[in-house]
Amino acid sequence: MFQPLQRLQPDSILGLMAKFRADSAAMKVDLGVGVYRDPDGHTPVLDCVRQAERQMLAEQTTKAYVGAAGREEFNQGVEELVLGATHAARRAGRVRTVQAPGGCGALRVGAELIRAAAPDSVVHVSDPTWGNHLPLLGNSGLRLERYPYYDAGHHALRFEAMLERLDRAAPGDTVLIHACCHNPSGADLDPPQWRTLVELLARRRLVPYLDLAYQGFGEGLEADAEPVRLVAERLPEALIAVSFSKNLGLYRERVGALLVVSDGAERADAVHSHVLQIARGIYSMPPDHGAAIAARIFTDMPLRQAWKLELDAMRMRINGMRDLLARELRAATGDDSFDFIRSQRGMFSLLGVSAPTVERLRERHHIYMTADSRMNLAGIMQHNAAYVAAAVATELAAQAA
Ligand SMILES: Cc1ncc(COP(=O)(O)O)c(C=O)c1O
Repeated sequence: MFQPLQRLQPDSILGLMAKFRADSAAMKVDLGVGVYRDPDGHTPVLDCVRQAERQMLAEQTTKAYVGAAGREEFNQGVEELVLGATHAARRAGRVRTVQAPGGCGALRVGAELIRAAAPDSVVHVSDPTWGNHLPLLGNSGLRLERYPYYDAGHHALRFEAMLERLDRAAPGDTVLIHACCHNPSGADLDPPQWRTLVELLARRRLVPYLDLAYQGFGEGLEADAEPVRLVAERLPEALIAVSFSKNLGLYRERVGALLVVSDGAERADAVHSHVLQIARGIYSMPPDHGAAIAARIFTDMPLRQAWKLELDAMRMRINGMRDLLARELRAATGDDSFDFIRSQRGMFSLLGVSAPTVERLRERHHIYMTADSRMNLAGIMQHNAAYVAAAVATELAAQAA
């Protein structure tokens, strides 16, 4: 049976992690894997999570099955966090939510839903996008196409080209959009651009599939949700995949959710029945531990307030490191071409250098980033920013010579 199967290349990010671990150089810098790091380089368990977990374990009386939709109080908490307590789409019964195993699980369930409803439709994904979007959506059998989004060489959004391409998409197609903190570019649409895009989606009858994996890392929990709220208000249908891996630091617990917005309450119920059947057919039901912790944080005011402060601190640290690296790059290169890092948001930016330069940064300077030159800014520390900037300047100068 297994004879036809040839060994595959390891996932590029996992391969990079292995190389980093094997590197014995003291000055090595990990800008690769997408996890938050504190000033000491650790990916901490948030205090609010520790507290909620202790309370939850003390009160837990059963480990019986939870059901394909997961915890209802978690799902309601997610809707409230993402759409707000009084959003019209919620009041109209147009939104149904299921808990999912991480943002990835949510993305895949949503893809299966699209395939069930519109098997011949196309999903348009941004160029560039997060690498895992391609298998998560494409392996469900849907056809993927790319729309222009960001020019890494010029460090600029390609908004006009994006609109022009989407204006030619077929009605009923899906458009996958990063709701905030675009991965890998860190370049987001501003509010007027979001409004223009949403009008285009409405006019062309395109269905947005929003990926919200970094709520709170852009401008804050409320501001980062604004595009999602606009979409759910203005458009009849939408899918929203949410991840709590980063903003609650619950990575390995696999906490996520899929919100589906339909054009009426009755349709929302019908769609929900399909979502439940899809989940049942893949993993039966989502893991409970992390969602139970998250639900407690969403609903307990002191815990929620503590979470907000911890999340604010994570965002501020990353923005501080953006600032520091941009300053060091300006000092090392003598020009301002890396100032864009300062204005971008979320964990990532694209340095905008070639794959051979990325390789030289790794081989000669022990600085690790993905081949597209994506940097996790949380990997920058006070002690390594000048080192990284000097290495980049050295390699760019060598390349120019
Ligand atoms: C853009 C984007 N979407 C979704 C996810 C899903 O994350 P998880 O499945 O770990 O919750 C990630 C994680 O890196 C991401 O970067």
